[in-house]
Amino acid sequence: MARIWILGGGLIGCGWAAAFAGAGHDVTVIDPDPAVADRIATVQAQALPVLQGLGTLSPRATTPAHVATAAEAGPPPVLVQENLPENLDLKRRALAALEPHLAPDSIIASSSSGLSPDDMAEGLARPERLLIAHPCNPPYLMPVVELSGGALTAPEVVDRAAGLFRAMGKTVLTLTRPVPGHLVNRLQAALWREAVHLASEGIASLADIEQAVIQGLAPRWCIVGPSTVFHLAGAEGGIGRFVDALGPEFERW
Ligand SMILES: NC(=O)c1ccc[n+]([C@@H]2O[C@H](COP(=O)([O-])OP(=O)(O)OC[C@H]3O[C@@H](n4cnc5c(N)ncnc54)[C@H](O)[C@@H]3O)[C@@H](O)[C@H]2O)c1
Repeated sequence: MARIWILGGGLIGCGWAAAFAGAGHDVTVIDPDPAVADRIATVQAQALPVLQGLGTLSPRATTPAHVATAAEAGPPPVLVQENLPENLDLKRRALAALEPHLAPDSIIASSSSGLSPDDMAEGLARPERLLIAHPCNPPYLMPVVELSGGALTAPEVVDRAAGLFRAMGKTVLTLTRPVPGHLVNRLQAALWREAVHLASEGIASLADIEQAVIQGLAPRWCIVGPSTVFHLAGAEGGIGRFVDALGPEFERW
């Protein structure tokens, strides 16, 4: 069991709180909004059957605590998961105020969808402890956590965070450098761009475009990613044969 602080108990913070508590960690949510206590309980009640179904609910699952400030949160955590609104100034100020309450080796993992870890770490006494750990929503259900460190992040911090998330049953994807949107959201955005294009050109109804993804792509993508799909489509010649045969066709679109 590790001590985990959740900074910001909104949609993602409460989802993370349920994930960490379900994995048996000692969780404290820090958020000045008094409504957060009820939100923690509601999300945990939603998460418990999901974690049970996934087989990742620890027999030592805990209940997250709620406090308004880091000063009330007790001994420093192994990791603080930051889930403040996506606003660089707000995050910077809140992290600078939080840092004196941390241990020298406490990790700061940010859920940010698009901010740079180096920008966020500016002003910290120990910027090497900050990395991005981006979940898909809701964090207790979705397996992927995308990790990326900035130029200032210590590699051992990325390794320690990866170990903690893997021990919770998460699939850790590690980027070699941070990019806004990380992997999942960028891939999703690329597909959505084409969906909007097809709909706006009147090629098909939005309902049929949605079905193309749900019935045409999703059943494959549960098991293999898009590169493997094309590799398999090339039969014994693999992706090379596929590109030779269909590459020029793709170029014409
Ligand atoms: N919403 C999503 O689907 C999603 C998915 C993945 C990652 N993210 C990222 O997660 C982060 C949080 O997003 P969200 O949708 O949960 O936001 P949200 O607005 O639902 O929650 C933000 C919470 O932060 C609290 N807060 C504000 N200032 C605070 C402070 N100084 N100290 C403590 N708490 C404070 C607020 O009271 C609120 O409860 C963002 O960086 C976002 O990019 C969001």
